[in-house]
Amino acid sequence: MGPSQEDSSVVAESITIIDNRTGNQLEIPIDRGGVAASEWSKLLPGIWFYDPGFVSTAACESTITYLDGDEGILRYRGYPIEDLAENSTYLEVAYLLLRGELPTVEEFDAWHHEITMHTFIHENVRKRFLEGFHYDAHPMGMLVSAVAALSTFYLDAKEIFDPASRHKQITRLIAKMPTLAAAAHRFSVGMPFVYPDNSLDFCSNFLSMMWKVAEPRFDANPVLTRALDILFILHADHEQNCSTTAMRVVGSSHSDPYSACAAACAALYGPRHGGANEAVIRMLTEIGSIENVPAFVDSVKQGTGGRLQGFGHRVYKSYDPRAKIIKRTADQVFEITGKNPLLDIALKLEEIALSDEYFTSRRLYPNVDFYSGLIYQAMGFPLEMFPVLFAIPRTAGWLAHWQEMLDQDSKIARPRQLYAGAEERPYVPIGSR
Ligand code: ACO
Repeated sequence: MGPSQEDSSVVAESITIIDNRTGNQLEIPIDRGGVAASEWSKLLPGIWFYDPGFVSTAACESTITYLDGDEGILRYRGYPIEDLAENSTYLEVAYLLLRGELPTVEEFDAWHHEITMHTFIHENVRKRFLEGFHYDAHPMGMLVSAVAALSTFYLDAKEIFDPASRHKQITRLIAKMPTLAAAAHRFSVGMPFVYPDNSLDFCSNFLSMMWKVAEPRFDANPVLTRALDILFILHADHEQNCSTTAMRVVGSSHSDPYSACAAACAALYGPRHGGANEAVIRMLTEIGSIENVPAFVDSVKQGTGGRLQGFGHRVYKSYDPRAKIIKRTADQVFEITGKNPLLDIALKLEEIALSDEYFTSRRLYPNVDFYSGLIYQAMGFPLEMFPVLFAIPRTAGWLAHWQEMLDQDSKIARPRQLYAGAEERPYVPIGSR
C-alpha cells in the first residue's frame, strides 16, 4: 500500500526523477537498495550514469554472498563467515558457494572424491608449457597463463550450457588450481614437480606438492593445514570484487570458463587487489622497526609514503570481519612457526592508524590482507606466491558467479562512455603535420 494523506509518515520506497528540459517525470521503485537503470532509460534514453570504477553501480543480482561494509558483515549463502571459518572446510564452502546449500555427508563424500580424482594436470601442461617459462617468472604470471592454456586441453569446455560439461570444468578448475600453483612455485625455485597425493585432503595435498622433498609422504603440521583451510574459506568469495567482475564480464561473452578464469586471475594479480598482502610485507620490511612507524604513518598522510598497504577497502568502512579471524589464526600459526618478526611493526601500525584522524575520518581499517601475508610468510611461502594463494580458493567464488551469470541469461557486459575527445577533424598527411 502506498502513502496516503491520512498517514503522511509512510515514506514511499521510490524515487522521482524530473527531466528539467521537458518537465517530464518518472517514479522508480527502490528494490533491495537499488533502482533499475532500465526504468531510468524510459525517461532519459541516451543519458548515461557516469560511474568510473562502478562505485555506485549494482551490475547484477546475486544470491551468493551478502556483504555489509558499514557493519562489517560477510555471509556466504546466508552463513556468517565467522561460523564457516570456525566449523567448515574450504571444500565444503566451495560446494556451498556453487550449489547454494551445505552438502550432506554423502554429497560431501562424492564431491571430495570428484575433486580428488581431478587433481592431476596433463603432462604437457607441466613439461612443455610451465617449464617453458623463464627461470625467474612470477608464479602468478605462470598461473594466469596456465589456467588460460587449460582451455586448449579441454575442448568440451566450450559447451557452457551443457550441465554435465559445466560441472566437469568446475571440478577440474577447483581441483587443478593447487597443482598448477605448486608447480609454478617448484619451477621458480628449481625443485622437481610433486605429483598430487590423493590420499590427502585438499589443503594437506597442496602443502605436500609445495614442500615435499624426498620423503615418501609429506604430512603437514595439522595446525598449519587448518590455518590454510581457514584462509582459503575467508578468501573463497567476496561478491562483485574486481576479479569476480572480470570473470562475469569475460564470461558474459560466453567464452569458456578457463579463459574467463584466467582473466579473473589476471585481475587478482594487481597490487590493489590480490597483490596487496605482498605489498604489506614489503611495506613492513621497509619500515624495519617499531620506532620508524610514526614517521612512516606521517609520510602516508602527507602523500609521500604511498598508501598504507592492507588498509582501506572499497566496501568495508569498518573493520574487515575476515581480518579479525585472520588475526586469531596468526597467533595459532606463530605458536608453531615462531613469531613473524614483522608482527610487532604491523600491530604498532594498526594501533597508530586506528587512533589517527586521517585514517578514522576516511574510515580506513585493516583489510583481509593486512595479516594474511604475515601468516603465509611464517609458513614459508615466498612473497610471489601470495596472490597465487588467493587465487586457489577464489576460484570457487569465480565459478559460482560465472554459473549464476549464465543461469541468469545475462546480457554481454558492454558499458557506455562519456566521450571527451576531439571533434571531427580531417586526416592530415604525415608530410604536412
Ligand atoms: N592508505 C592511505 N590512504 C588511503 C588508503 C590507504 N591504504 N586507502 C584509501 N586512502 C585514502 C585515499 O587517499 C583517499 O583520500 P582523499 O579522500 O583525501 O583523496 C580516501 O582514502 C579514499 O580512497 P579511495 O582510493 O577513493 O578509495 P577506494 O575505495 O577507491 O580504494 C582501495 C580502495 C583500493 C582498497 C584502497 O583503500 C587502497 O589502495 N588500499 C591499499 C591497498 C590494499 O590494501 N588493497 C587490498 C584491498 S582488499 C582485497 O582486494 C582483498
